[in-house]
Amino acid sequence: MSSPPIVTTVTDLRRALEPLRKDGVALVPTMGALHDGHLSLVAAAKQRTPNVAVSIFVNPTQFAPHEDFYSYPRTLESDREKLAGANTTLIFAPAAREMYPDGFATTVCVKGPANGLETDFRPHFFDGVATIVAKLLIAAKPDWAMFGEKDYQQLLVIRRLARDLDLGVEIVAVPIAREEDGLAMSSRNAYLSPSERKIAGQLNAVMREVIARLQRGTGIVEAEAFGAAAIKDTGFDTVDYVALRDAQTLDPITAMGKPARLLVAARICKTRLIDNMAV
Ligand code: PAJ
Repeated sequence: MSSPPIVTTVTDLRRALEPLRKDGVALVPTMGALHDGHLSLVAAAKQRTPNVAVSIFVNPTQFAPHEDFYSYPRTLESDREKLAGANTTLIFAPAAREMYPDGFATTVCVKGPANGLETDFRPHFFDGVATIVAKLLIAAKPDWAMFGEKDYQQLLVIRRLARDLDLGVEIVAVPIAREEDGLAMSSRNAYLSPSERKIAGQLNAVMREVIARLQRGTGIVEAEAFGAAAIKDTGFDTVDYVALRDAQTLDPITAMGKPARLLVAARICKTRLIDNMAV
């Protein structure tokens, strides 16, 4: 399969997508270091249209100064091969100065689903995500944009953003792709040493146990506390949250009944992992 062309400017992106509009265009925003989770987003896009653009941009504004922006894996050549295999139409890989020109002074700030959870630990994060995703959606004007349930809070924030700003795009949610032991695929899994990787594989087993306890009638606060303790027992160094939330709003819930989501963030040494499951 031929390598998808790489375009690096918004002008070239718009020029390349213009002749494809009549069959629709799908956009898959990523930060690269692609794995099968990302490729499942491309496959879901391909079910809707032959015209699939994948953006690869390690977005500086969603990293805090102490976070892993500089060490984040950058693997454009192998990403391009994977995207050729997935029959991607084109890659948008801008430089930072294309997305953030000198004097850049605009921030898109979503509240609602962005409040709490990730924001309690990464306060800068959703402003950075919302700003870059708004820019990508305005640049590409896709009919569909694909996002993984892996980043469940991010998905709800982007849904809110697209609706609130009338961006005219359908935000499509794609289920989490997992490794055989249940670990959610993530570019950051590459940071894990073999022993850390074993520990990481137990996160999902603990989450399933928390859900089983909830379904047997254990109280929500008690089940969350069990989950946090059990995650530490498996060898994680810190647990940022184990939280059962309303699946639509991410508001805390006090009783089972409506669709809920169990969301977890925890750290092994320097690697922070997040996961979530429907309840
Ligand atoms: P990144 O972490 O590269 O993820 C890109 C997309 O792939 C996101 O929608 C994410 O939820 C999805 N994804 C990652 N791992 C997945 C998995 N195991 N299963 C299913 N989908 C998965 O998320 C970002 O980049 C950035 O914040 C971005 C939205 C591109 C803005 O910079």
